[in-house]
Amino acid sequence: MATHKLLLLPGDGIGPEVMAEVKRLIRWMNERGIARFETEEGLVGGSCYDAHKVAVTEETMAKAKAADAVIFGAVGGPKWDGVPYDVRPEAGLLRLRKDLGLFANLRPAVCYPALADASSLKREAVEGLDIMIVRELTGGVYFGEPKTITDLGNGQKRAIDTQVYDTYEIERIARVAFELARKRRNKVTSSEKRNVMKSGVLWHEVVNQVHQREYKDVQLEHQLADACGMQLVRWPKQFDVIVCDNLFGDMLSDVASMLTGSLGMLPSASLGEVDAKTKTRRSLYEPVHGSAPDIAGKGMANPIAMIASFGMALRYSFGMIKEAEWIDQAIAGTLAKGLRTPDIASPGAATVGTQQMGEAVIKELERVASS
Ligand code: IPM
Ligand code: MG
Repeated sequence: MATHKLLLLPGDGIGPEVMAEVKRLIRWMNERGIARFETEEGLVGGSCYDAHKVAVTEETMAKAKAADAVIFGAVGGPKWDGVPYDVRPEAGLLRLRKDLGLFANLRPAVCYPALADASSLKREAVEGLDIMIVRELTGGVYFGEPKTITDLGNGQKRAIDTQVYDTYEIERIARVAFELARKRRNKVTSSEKRNVMKSGVLWHEVVNQVHQREYKDVQLEHQLADACGMQLVRWPKQFDVIVCDNLFGDMLSDVASMLTGSLGMLPSASLGEVDAKTKTRRSLYEPVHGSAPDIAGKGMANPIAMIASFGMALRYSFGMIKEAEWIDQAIAGTLAKGLRTPDIASPGAATVGTQQMGEAVIKELERVASS
């Protein structure tokens, strides 16, 4: 059995609390002889700033590059509102994404049957929902230069962010979306603002070219990003795979998360290019939710997005498809039994804390794995 090296970066706020439940899961898998994971841990975000005055250290970056996968909690919080922009907590996450070349961010939004009533939409709109947002993650306005605030000297300042995409960046993310669609319901919706932005014009053109050249068998449609946001809350089941740039993907995935009942339910995988020689790719797995400073330290955070993110690591980094499915089944089973963290609380269901939820998922996993 191969040994897989994991770098755990719990981060700030509820990050360490939900990561504790992934550690429990890793322990379970190791003890049961299902896998051999070796773990190392590091600081990132505000907790790293407190210790080292940077959002991520060179040493941690080197470990992240050497790991088979990085498992990431969350960063940020009001405590670090005043720190210099370059070393703010989020800078640690953005550097990991950029320096590891993690251009493809997969954000599946699945509505578990037991949670259909926890969504802000009606049950019939979300029951059985299963969509995949493919967000470009290393380009666009997040990283484009110039990115500045200039003092104009007349009492005015000017802020500039740059939205920039090259053909190859659009091509490779489009391919990820089309490949995923082929394994799902064979439909891709590409989303941009070509009516206002040049980057949207190019995005639209390149996605069409890749489709014509390589993926004619997949159904492709285009939706302007504002309309796509509207359609997501109107009738989300029309979507299979949505592909979009970094900023629209950030927004649309937060919108999609509420369809599933709670932001505490959404996992994500950030993937790099497959290495032609080793057939492996760099990867980082993180829940879509943030550090939730308002509930940090109270043991009430929902660990499901973090646990499901680890499930995505099994699927996309280690080819452990069966075990990844076990985790999905264990989550569905635990919810079906009526266990709820406060974010997904419902009348008649037992409200539990982070640790109880983590333990319950493992108990259910044990049952699924033995049957
Ligand atoms: C996300 C987050 C990050 C982003 C923040 C924490 C920098 O909102 O992963 O969706 O904007 O990408
Ligand atoms: Mg976000």
